[in-house]
Amino acid sequence: MAEARERWASRPAFIMAAVGSAIGLGNVWRFPGTAFNNGGGAFFIPFFVALLTAGIPLMIVEYGLGSRFQGGAPKAYRKLGRGFEWIGWWAVLIGLGISIYYCVILAWSWQYCWECVRSMFTGELAWEPGRAGTYYEQTILNASADSGTLGAFNVGAAVGLFLTWAVVWWCIAKGVLRVGKIVMITVPLPLVLLVILALRGLTLDGAMDGLAYYLTPNWEALTEAKTWVAAYGQVFFSLSVGWGILIAYSSYRPKDSDVVNNAFITSFANCGFSFLAGFAVFSTLGYLAMSLSPPETIDALKTSSFGLAFTSYPTAIEVFPGGVRVQALLGFGFFLMLLTLGIDSAFSIVEATATSVHDKFRVHRGKLVFGLCAGGFLLGLVFCFGSGIYWLDVNDRFLAEYSLPLVALVQTVVLGWLIGSKKLKAIQDDINRRSELKAGFFWLWSIRLVTPAVLSYSLYVVFKDLIAEGYGGFSTPTLLLAGAIPAGLLIVVGIALSMVKGAGDDDED
Ligand code: PHE
Repeated sequence: MAEARERWASRPAFIMAAVGSAIGLGNVWRFPGTAFNNGGGAFFIPFFVALLTAGIPLMIVEYGLGSRFQGGAPKAYRKLGRGFEWIGWWAVLIGLGISIYYCVILAWSWQYCWECVRSMFTGELAWEPGRAGTYYEQTILNASADSGTLGAFNVGAAVGLFLTWAVVWWCIAKGVLRVGKIVMITVPLPLVLLVILALRGLTLDGAMDGLAYYLTPNWEALTEAKTWVAAYGQVFFSLSVGWGILIAYSSYRPKDSDVVNNAFITSFANCGFSFLAGFAVFSTLGYLAMSLSPPETIDALKTSSFGLAFTSYPTAIEVFPGGVRVQALLGFGFFLMLLTLGIDSAFSIVEATATSVHDKFRVHRGKLVFGLCAGGFLLGLVFCFGSGIYWLDVNDRFLAEYSLPLVALVQTVVLGWLIGSKKLKAIQDDINRRSELKAGFFWLWSIRLVTPAVLSYSLYVVFKDLIAEGYGGFSTPTLLLAGAIPAGLLIVVGIALSMVKGAGDDDED
């Protein structure tokens, strides 16, 4: 007889944890930039279509499977068919892979927080005026010349990485009861900080230009396939669907808990946060563009992904009015926001892995979580070398942009077609039996047709580009070693794990 499964303290605790997983670095650096590059205000249309046809329907499935089968992704897929267990492992392992470099980004945030605190005492910012970009590249990353040159080891990043994993370990070691308490801080705190930063941003000169830039719709973008691909990609990354996280989280809910409402609440909370983050980011960029001499265009300032957080924001705070201490305080607020945003996303995937392993092998939970965190830390050290930033870039590309949509596609094909319409109908009936809002025709065909079709097309586009142009000018060995091989290994490990026999394999709950 298996031990009784843990439970969330309450429904709000569960919802907050799911929201905490969804709201992460992706909302701050990924969303505003993606919206901007894909039609500005017009991007909201493909984004909402993606949300309604892919994000929410899949989230409903994940919530439904987790609580129905009382297990993480591998167990849930195993119950749908013996041959599908590996898909659950693959999904979880992709997330675990992502968390390894995601925690490195958090490590840099620790470094910036520390520097801001120091500036409050010394009265001097860590970077020289106008040189935040150089500071980021040379001091924080200590970037080597190219991906083939290992470069120096960054002790500061390693310390930050250690702190990140120590916090992740502490948050989840004791199970979901503690998680439920922690998210009551890590979800509202970044929201409060974001509101402060947005208000500060909006009251600066030039803010309106920045917002006009962010929100002016470019309707033509809607006719381009890449806009739609970007919208679906953003929805998957941001909502944390397809990673098996939500299956694990909802497996700690009773079998009769609501599904559909919870999915809507989580999704809309996440989108609201992204939208607001756009205000904070673009109002600040508008101000920055105006106050540089000579004034810059916002276009020139909007660097890619992490650059926004680690270059543009530090540059903006150094021109904020109010003196160094106020600037350092705002900088501290910003990086603390990144940390608290990211930490609950990071631990959600480690939790999903721990849940999956525990369900199957029944190993001691404390030891398991410790092992996962120690392993994540050690692997993350690879990214602390000067060449780490390049490997991180390639790794992110292969895991978040290729593997995640691929595993989501496989999941929808399995659910929509391979398990058979009887089982699918049983899942749908089960969900509807316990939900106020119903998953009907629209849900069914989103899972069966719309999502797989759009994902197949997106993958076709991205792989075609990869084959034709490579990625980011990186050499083939780098693409293989930092991208394709790790991504491929995750599938192999997933299949291997599904083939071994575990003590929990035959549990009936
Ligand atoms: N949803 C997260 C974000 O927007 C992404 C993420 C989820 C990262 C889970 C790690 C683990 O940042």
